[in-house]
Amino acid sequence: MSADFETHAYDVLVVGAGGAGLRAAIAASAAGAKVGVVTKSLLGKAHTVMAEGGIAAALANVDERDNWKVHFSDTMRGGAYLNQWRMAELHAKEAPERVRELEAWGAVFDRTGDGKILQRNFGGHRYPRLAHVGDRTGLEMIRTLQDHGIHRGMSVHMETTLVALLTDGGRVSGAVGYDRERGRMRVFNARAVVLATGGLGRIFQITSNSWEYTGDGPALAYRAGAELMDLEFVQFHPTGMIWPPSVRGILVTEGVRGEGGVLRNREGRRFMFDDIPPLYRQQTADTPEEGWRYVTGDRNARRPPELLTRDHVARCIMREVREGRGSPHGGVFLDIAWIKEKIPHAAEHIRRKLPSMYQQFKELADLDITAEPMEIGPTTHYSMGGVRVDADTQMSSVAGLFAAGECAAGLHGANRLGGNSLSDLLVFGQRAGHYAAEFAAQNGPARSDAAQIEAAARGATEVFERPATTAANPFQIQQEMQEMMQAKVGIVRTGPEMDQALAALAELGGRAAHIAVTGNREYNPGWHTALDLRNCLLVAEAITRAARERRESRGAHFREDFPEKSPEFGGFNLVLRQGADGGMELRRQPLPPMPPPLQAIIEEMK
Ligand code: FUM
Repeated sequence: MSADFETHAYDVLVVGAGGAGLRAAIAASAAGAKVGVVTKSLLGKAHTVMAEGGIAAALANVDERDNWKVHFSDTMRGGAYLNQWRMAELHAKEAPERVRELEAWGAVFDRTGDGKILQRNFGGHRYPRLAHVGDRTGLEMIRTLQDHGIHRGMSVHMETTLVALLTDGGRVSGAVGYDRERGRMRVFNARAVVLATGGLGRIFQITSNSWEYTGDGPALAYRAGAELMDLEFVQFHPTGMIWPPSVRGILVTEGVRGEGGVLRNREGRRFMFDDIPPLYRQQTADTPEEGWRYVTGDRNARRPPELLTRDHVARCIMREVREGRGSPHGGVFLDIAWIKEKIPHAAEHIRRKLPSMYQQFKELADLDITAEPMEIGPTTHYSMGGVRVDADTQMSSVAGLFAAGECAAGLHGANRLGGNSLSDLLVFGQRAGHYAAEFAAQNGPARSDAAQIEAAARGATEVFERPATTAANPFQIQQEMQEMMQAKVGIVRTGPEMDQALAALAELGGRAAHIAVTGNREYNPGWHTALDLRNCLLVAEAITRAARERRESRGAHFREDFPEKSPEFGGFNLVLRQGADGGMELRRQPLPPMPPPLQAIIEEMK
């Protein structure tokens, strides 16, 4: 093997240092495994911090009617019943314990008057359920997990990007990557690998995701032979910043609406009252006054329509914009300042409950949210799809390869409720780490294959050997892909547009195969973008193929040419894998039958 490779060996290699990765690393370490963590960015910089409003867990601290059954049923309804019921069950049952554990490890939550963890309202959750720290919950979670993890023991490789997983006879055996600082290739031999790489928002033009989120986990897993699932379901969070252009897409937490923020069009009308889906009519307020009573904790009041599910709110915003009732920069208004009509010291209250939002708008948009409405619009936020995993262990269809958090599929079905991401990371991060350590203990070291390592390294560095051409600029291709995906596979989709998207992706892929990079390997952004693009283009194709196949509208997936939910498409998930000819194979995977006691819970909650 070439002397260029720096080699490391672990029982469990965790890829990603967001909430899921850190929780997996802690669990694997607690089970006695030697753990390595690889992170594309710096420790502490994770999309987890963008889940600002809270962690969903049925602690019942604010409303004692809450329990795991209600949380289970809310999650299934939010996911339009395409969720893996077993994951939704485990999630609802285990989230409270994971939150209390986080508290024991030092997380500082906001408190109720009698000292319990405070919980706030969020869209689609029947009761106030989100344990929170102002609007910095994800940040507090990362801080706590990092502190705990470092003390438990793990080796961290920062600014390291993987280019391929290694396999040995159908089992994972490690990975090859490079460090961004010097561009040196690294080999990680591992008995088990946990993918926790987060999302894929960077495939789209407008996103809350930062540069790291290029669909790496699903792409690496797919190339190693694993199955992907539910890729057609991409969540467009209704509220991202839209002005000034440089900050477009940055998240505006749902916590603003949870604290009483309302949406208005340019005429000043609360347009969310115009279209309340029949499914939610009984739970949604008819009047602004009733909605406000709900926000302030009146248990007999119904929730304001701004707290309907994210897909619905995002589409209502798009409708207002399309029909000419939008704000000056192509969004609508989100107003929390109005609560000064209702409560004394409203400005101070807003600054205390939403400190990051206050700072964000003050610094980035020169706007005081305690006095003026914000201008917002939908932003690509989250992928419900990812690597197909076993519900209990999180192992993929490749032995020893696990996935957790956003890069895994199954818990959220067709759409995710806000706050269910942080609880997902904790519950399934813990499970993935635990079962990965168990797999590592039960299976000896896998064989390291020099030919695979050489091929991965050659594939990653060949761009330096090509003659420079102007036709294949990685930044240009990236930008074209993002604009095209936003326009043709975004919030509103049609079959013909997705056919065009597939043709465009093929053309972009052809150009990407000729990318040439100049300069050396040290912090070379052209090189990094060229490698990220390989993953983006693969996952973009998977999203488009699945979205084209699902000829109905469900959850976050909206087809203008098939605007209704169809019973024909209600019984299966779409699964993708690499076919023998190298092309993408798509199949319908029937949903596993739900046990009668869980069915009864859903019926009862309806
Ligand atoms: O709006 C938010 O604070 C985001 C939360 C989430 O995506 O779970």
